Amino acid sequence: MKDLVGSLATVNHLLTTERLILRPVTVQDQAGLLAHWTAPDVRKFLFDGVVLSPAEITEAVEDSVGSFAAAGYGLWLIREAGGNDLVGTAGLRPLEDLGIEVLYSLEPGAWGKGYATEAARAVVEHALGPLGLPEVLAEVDADNAASVAVVERLGMTPFEVVPGLLGPMTRYRRTR
Ligand SMILES: CC(C)(COP(=O)(O)OP(=O)(O)OC[C@H]1O[C@@H](n2cnc3c(N)ncnc32)[C@H](O)[C@@H]1OP(=O)(O)O)[C@@H](O)C(=O)NCCC(=O)NCCS
Repeated sequence: MKDLVGSLATVNHLLTTERLILRPVTVQDQAGLLAHWTAPDVRKFLFDGVVLSPAEITEAVEDSVGSFAAAGYGLWLIREAGGNDLVGTAGLRPLEDLGIEVLYSLEPGAWGKGYATEAARAVVEHALGPLGLPEVLAEVDADNAASVAVVERLGMTPFEVVPGLLGPMTRYRRTR
């Protein structure tokens, strides 16, 4: 039974942690993602403040669905184990031609509980373990102290600083 549950989790790309469940985003999440990703405190560093349109959210979901089918990763929706509300998102996506980066966001009401680190750690370990990626990257605005703290807790190492729209961005990596 345990093996069956494990196989289903692999097929569904489900990731579970002590407190959270991560599952791939679907078209049904459109309204929730729109509200979450366009909230000012969330979009500030995630999208350089840009308010994504519904069409852009649809495109992001479709890209994620295609990416899960082709490569086994994309964007996961985070919810609390036993809860139904969207708590945030975490994902893996290409960073230019450098490799694959981890990204994450939480609803502001869920900040300060360790959820981002818990979710991002599950994603990074999935990438370096079952997915077999050689390394995972992150690109973080230097002014985004909360996100810098997340990548540091994940044990990622800075290797480069590049200019971004809001100021310098530090690139981090964690290798297998
Ligand atoms: C980046 C972001 C996800 C960080 O959220 P966060 O809540 O600060 O990070 P975590 O969920 O890992 O929580 C860590 C905090 O929870 C605290 N905490 C409380 N209970 C905890 C527990 N049981 N376990 C672990 N940490 C816990 C930690 O001490 C830490 O607090 P501190 O910041 O005062 O040191 C959030 O600011 C966000 O969504 N920003 C908008 C999107 C964004 O910028 N994404 C990153 C783009 S690169």
